[in-house]
Amino acid sequence: MVLYCYNNLEVIIIISQNRLPLVEAMINYHNSDITPFDVPGHKHGKGNQELDEFLKKYGAYLDVNSMKELDILSDPIGVIKEAEELMAQAYGSDHAFFMVNGTTSSVQAMILAVAKPGDKIILPRNAHKSAINGLILSGAIPVFIQPEIDEKIGIANGVTIESVEIALAQNPDAKAIFLINPTYYGVTSPLKEIIKLAHKHGVAVLADEAHGAHFAFSDILPDSAIKLGADMSSVSMHKTGGSLTQSSVLLLNEGLIEKNKVRSVINLTTSTSASYLLMASLDFARKQLALNGEEMLLRICNLCDKYREKFNTLPGIYSFGKEMIGLKGVNNFDTTKLSVNTNGLKINGYELYDILREKYKIQAELADLNNVLFIISLGDDEESLSILYDALVEISRMYVGTKEVMFKNALLNPQVIVSPRDAYYAHKKRIKLKESINQISGESVMVYPPGIPIITPGEKISEDVINYIEFLKTQHTVITGPEDINLEYIRVLGL
Ligand SMILES: Cc1ncc(COP(=O)(O)O)c(C=O)c1O
Repeated sequence: MVLYCYNNLEVIIIISQNRLPLVEAMINYHNSDITPFDVPGHKHGKGNQELDEFLKKYGAYLDVNSMKELDILSDPIGVIKEAEELMAQAYGSDHAFFMVNGTTSSVQAMILAVAKPGDKIILPRNAHKSAINGLILSGAIPVFIQPEIDEKIGIANGVTIESVEIALAQNPDAKAIFLINPTYYGVTSPLKEIIKLAHKHGVAVLADEAHGAHFAFSDILPDSAIKLGADMSSVSMHKTGGSLTQSSVLLLNEGLIEKNKVRSVINLTTSTSASYLLMASLDFARKQLALNGEEMLLRICNLCDKYREKFNTLPGIYSFGKEMIGLKGVNNFDTTKLSVNTNGLKINGYELYDILREKYKIQAELADLNNVLFIISLGDDEESLSILYDALVEISRMYVGTKEVMFKNALLNPQVIVSPRDAYYAHKKRIKLKESINQISGESVMVYPPGIPIITPGEKISEDVINYIEFLKTQHTVITGPEDINLEYIRVLGL
């Protein structure tokens, strides 16, 4: 429809309404021959061919809505129920719930299922923003435990049993312990011991397995949280399980948490028009993992071990792996997380990430100051990994060396002053970031991915936090969270 007709305006409106900016960008991406080492784990369909063929054949024809024979996600009694039961069986849990708004909604449902306003949840400070936002939604109070920091590599690892013991002793009224299994970089905490300890105190264990959807299907990978007896787990099927982006699963071992409670919190925020294409992709991913997962994952793990060894022959390149097991906060390691640490190079992680994409058409999952992470999953093979290896051979030759270390440890530990929810709803004022020292933050600031907040609502802003954010602004990273996307200003509590 033409709204105005004045000089050339009519023509401009018609031309611009003819465009499909998003679609055009997606098609350009498709045509640019990128090698993907990011999610989704089906890697352009290669890792789940049955799903790919289904989508090519039926496409929008099977983008349908609930009806008698197709069941309804909010209260399944038919085919969705059956598909969820098969999912639960495949993971060894009592129940499984299909999720169509990512693991974000799954993580938030776990928190809402155990906590009401004022209840305490013990969680590591490197939890994903979905968990922090879950605290805002539920009104739960965080009891943060610090993950163990690997100063050499510059990453946050898991938590120790001792730090959980202390948190539990100081907060015997905590309703749950929330854990990450594994971290983005593949490290797991001593989950078995933590679950045993928590259950001794009648405290539920919630696992964020956004990066561990494949664990349940191979004995050579770390154990899945559900197998170890966790009460709930959120698994990102779309990340490493081979389903479509945004499809996820919430698993439940009944006992401390009831099935009906979980269903009711899921239904608080889930669309009443759940996508059947997303749900169908969960069906395909489950079938493939249950029938062929073990064999496929053995091939992938061997491939990762082989290429990690090759990477480690290159001067300046360090790809960490199972040698980390036994360090504080490292109980086990997911070998399918292949990283490059840049300490031996003249460039930092962000620069390496950009060079790989711009010069070598390689899309990594994420970068931080010291590392770049590549997610290897069901759709990877010798071909994709040799493209990465060849690029690293050249990069090693060009950039081996040292650089000035600007931040020894970018993983900060701000003090919680008020709960995330109280901070979220409190009066706020906008002040210059540079002048915000000792103020209480009214918003989150994070690099995405990984989406782990540098500061969350309710935490005190320190000089280190300001310096780190100022540094990140110079680094071609995507900083999200604050209202002022340029981060000249930040909203803090106060009138
Ligand atoms: C540890 C962790 N938890 C939860 C999520 C949220 O998952 P989703 O993007 O499926 O909503 C992510 C996403 O990257 C994550 O890394």
